[in-house]
Amino acid sequence: MAEPLKILIIDPHPEAVTSLRRALNSSGTLEVVGDAGFGPVASTWAHTLEPAIVIVSVEEPVTRSLTTIQALTRGNPRWTVVGLVNQFDREVFRRTVLAGARDVLVRNSSASDLHDSLIQAHNADALRIAASGVDPAAPTGSIITMFGVKGGVGRTTLATNLAVALAQESSASVALVDLDVPFGDVALMLDIHPENDVLDALSDPVLDDLERLQKLLVRTPQGVHVLAAPLAPDDSGTLDSSRVGRLLTRLAALHQFVVVDTPSGLTELTAAALDVSELAMLVTTPEVAALRRTHACLRLLQGLEFSTSKLQLVLNRAESKTRVSAAEAIEALGHPVVWRIANDYHTMQSSALGQPVVEAAPKAHISKDIQLIARQLAGAPMASRGSWLPWRRRTALVTA
Ligand SMILES: Nc1ncnc2c1ncn2[C@@H]1O[C@H](COP(=O)(O)OP(=O)(O)OP(=O)(O)O)[C@@H](O)[C@H]1O
Ligand SMILES: [Mg+2]
Repeated sequence: MAEPLKILIIDPHPEAVTSLRRALNSSGTLEVVGDAGFGPVASTWAHTLEPAIVIVSVEEPVTRSLTTIQALTRGNPRWTVVGLVNQFDREVFRRTVLAGARDVLVRNSSASDLHDSLIQAHNADALRIAASGVDPAAPTGSIITMFGVKGGVGRTTLATNLAVALAQESSASVALVDLDVPFGDVALMLDIHPENDVLDALSDPVLDDLERLQKLLVRTPQGVHVLAAPLAPDDSGTLDSSRVGRLLTRLAALHQFVVVDTPSGLTELTAAALDVSELAMLVTTPEVAALRRTHACLRLLQGLEFSTSKLQLVLNRAESKTRVSAAEAIEALGHPVVWRIANDYHTMQSSALGQPVVEAAPKAHISKDIQLIARQLAGAPMASRGSWLPWRRRTALVTA
């Protein structure tokens, strides 16, 4: 017998969910795998549970339901979205379909009518996808890699906080991957205790099965899905950088944003991540040593024909007391600085370990700077994912 079709219910009323769950599960061909409330959480759960169908309760205030439907149907979702109303109303029907729902069902229909309508809606979507030739497992998300050629410039701080800000500022589903082996500290910064790590995700059976891959990620209270660095540092030697690109691309089929933290330097691992990234954020601070290395790195990237359209320079801890002003730093780099992040020592110190600063102190300068990046990324189109092969063919490495 075929696997039952997975259903996610978006409805904030527990009694309504229970009765719908009972009606749908009785068929044997449908299985309710979860329920959630309106808003960004609905998209997050849809990305986590990968249902075939999402049923969204359409109720007053209708805008809340319709915004949720819009978020669920934006881009190229793999699930069929259906509205559920208490009684038929022509205007509500029209607005629900315009928001992106494939059909609108009436709540008190018989269990068999609900079942048949859901199957029909799902089949109609499956036909549409087949006709458009779109592969639902194709990557639709954007990969953003944070890298830098000097230790301690703030890659992990920025990767972690950007991922949290993206989840907070948009309804997007966000993954955060810690490629800083062997000592990655993303899990520590977010106070999570993962049982799986990047190494578990690099095997063929996992890379070939999106559902298995998704289960290796830990969802933080902020709504970010984290794939941690190897838990036992000794294992990191076995990390195969040739598979990293495949891993990140698979994650981009599951999440709208995949933020990647990397070790210091241009290692093979970082190169593999940069290869598949839409955006490569090169982080530096206004210190002589960091500026000198970053300048050398920029020249190296230029020589290797790395696409400048996907490279963005980030000046972290701008105006810190290093005797080099932000203006002097920018001049020394000889490359436009796209983002500046305030030096905010006291806020960083006071935000408890395990709580990202954009959450602990959202109004602090550093948080506002990171929120601005998140907002722009969530709204702005990305440069296309162009491979960067000339770089990979050469072996020059700039290490920390
Ligand atoms: N904008 C900022 N203002 C003040 N302190 C900062 C800022 N950004 C980072 N820091 C601090 O700098 C230190 C290094 O930051 P972080 O660990 O993020 O850097 P990294 O580049 O990931 O370092 P590593 O090379 O260890 O991976 C941390 O103590 C962090 O709190
Ligand atoms: Mg780090």
